[in-house]
Amino acid sequence: MKILSAVLGSPFSGSSSEKIVNLFIDRLPKEEWNTAVLDLSDISSEALLFRSKDNILSASIERILDSDVILAATPTYRATYTGLIKTFFDQFPENALSGKVVLPIQTGGSAEHALSIEHGLSPMVRTLGAAVASKVIYSWGEHWNEDGTPSKNLEGLIDQSVKEIIGTSG
Ligand SMILES: Cc1cc2nc3c(=O)[nH]c(=O)nc-3n(C[C@H](O)[C@H](O)[C@H](O)COP(=O)(O)O)c2cc1C
Repeated sequence: MKILSAVLGSPFSGSSSEKIVNLFIDRLPKEEWNTAVLDLSDISSEALLFRSKDNILSASIERILDSDVILAATPTYRATYTGLIKTFFDQFPENALSGKVVLPIQTGGSAEHALSIEHGLSPMVRTLGAAVASKVIYSWGEHWNEDGTPSKNLEGLIDQSVKEIIGTSG
């Protein structure tokens, strides 16, 4: 059984990055993948800032260290990832993610900051030794239909990423 953990870097529940994570996980063969979604907004902010200890934070770190694949999902804030997801990855020592694959998933208000995955989220997780997937997902408003369902384009992006992750880790 492969272990996949998704990290939600949006401070808000029901975020579009969370929806993409769920669409991704739904496409994995259930019998082969042990999956978990870690909502970082459930963790004490004091603990994330190294001011106190928190059991949810410790359990989340352990889960990531046990994982083969990590989905790092975040909205774009100020042309890069959120402070929330940064404080979480700040908890790990150098090379803690070595041997693991990270798939960056980033949402934005428009396509303007799509390339920020390449100078923000991807190099950030590489400093921890992770291998970054090639088929990263950057999504914005036009990827969603009016009824809240994903567009064909977004489904195509997710399908490509699922194929890559299953191919490299399955
Ligand atoms: C504080 C803040 C900063 C933001 N900065 C950007 C930005 O620089 N570029 C951008 O495309 N969208 C920006 N946005 C819009 C969010 O990225 C967009 O609403 C988000 O992708 C929604 O994702 P979510 O539903 O996953 O939270 C910003 C939103 C907030 C609240």
